[in-house]
Amino acid sequence: MKRTLMLATAVAFGTFTSLASASGLPPLEQKERYKVGFSQMESNNPWRIAETKSFHDTAESCGWDLIATDAAGSAAKQVADVDSMIAQGIDVLFLPPREEKPLIPAVKKAKAAGIPTFLVDRSVDPNAAKAGEDFVAFLGSDFIDQGRRVAEWTIENFKGDKAVIVELEGTTGSSPANDRKKGFDDRILQDERFEIVASQSGDFARDLGRQVMETLLQAHPDVNVVYAHNDEMAIGAIQALELAGRKPGEDVLIVSIDGTRDALQAIIDGKMGVTVESSPFFGPLACETMKRYAAGETIEPWVQVKDRIFTPENAAKHIDEAY
Ligand code: AHR
Repeated sequence: MKRTLMLATAVAFGTFTSLASASGLPPLEQKERYKVGFSQMESNNPWRIAETKSFHDTAESCGWDLIATDAAGSAAKQVADVDSMIAQGIDVLFLPPREEKPLIPAVKKAKAAGIPTFLVDRSVDPNAAKAGEDFVAFLGSDFIDQGRRVAEWTIENFKGDKAVIVELEGTTGSSPANDRKKGFDDRILQDERFEIVASQSGDFARDLGRQVMETLLQAHPDVNVVYAHNDEMAIGAIQALELAGRKPGEDVLIVSIDGTRDALQAIIDGKMGVTVESSPFFGPLACETMKRYAAGETIEPWVQVKDRIFTPENAAKHIDEAY
């Protein structure tokens, strides 16, 4: 009630600026068009391409004059891209930070320049920058829960007595790599049939996933489960296993996260067991959250995205909507 009254007063006297300042965050005025920055980290996989497209597709209907950059896999370039957007006078910044720590100065610089920042899909180290203080909010999935759900499915569906697991990790120092590892490892190791014999980064990339799998296969020829932190590395692992004469889906179970078209096809083909969804379609949610913020709402620190799970039971039903 008190808050409603405060908002009504703010509307009447145009004092949103002071409301936002009270929280320490830069305000955002309500207007027809916004100059919006979207700083993509790389474009080397279908997930990233779908995310960037989602921002472009949303731009016109949300009144965005969009400046989109591509850091080509370099956190240093992503920091420089944000600098350049600040210099160009953006009103709002949407930022998927490639890694948890290196992008923190960029977040703080945007705030100091009076630009409200929304982290999308990945987050930063919460000990160094906080939602509601340094940036408005984090929009994204629960990566720990994604890893845990993959583990639950694997425990229920692995048929043998002893599972020898190779884990292909995402980009070192990124929030999805840290959290997907934690969620999966904590749950799977509660069941004594499961052992993780190797865990190495494939940088969320198909080709590196394939190369890492080739190497790990030589050291661990008895591997019978591969957990990849994303579908691209899972597909790379399938290629490496097939090249070595193994039969993914028969003598080795592949489990992963994202929900790309290639992964759903691999499930339909019987080569992959499961992929837990991680949606890249952030444009509409970014628009809605930005407008709520401009209208004076206090945004929850974590605007959480709910994810589905794709298995042999439903992959065919969903493949046409995949990317
Ligand atoms: O941050 C989300 C992850 O990053 C996706 O799983 C992956 O495919 C992307 O590169």
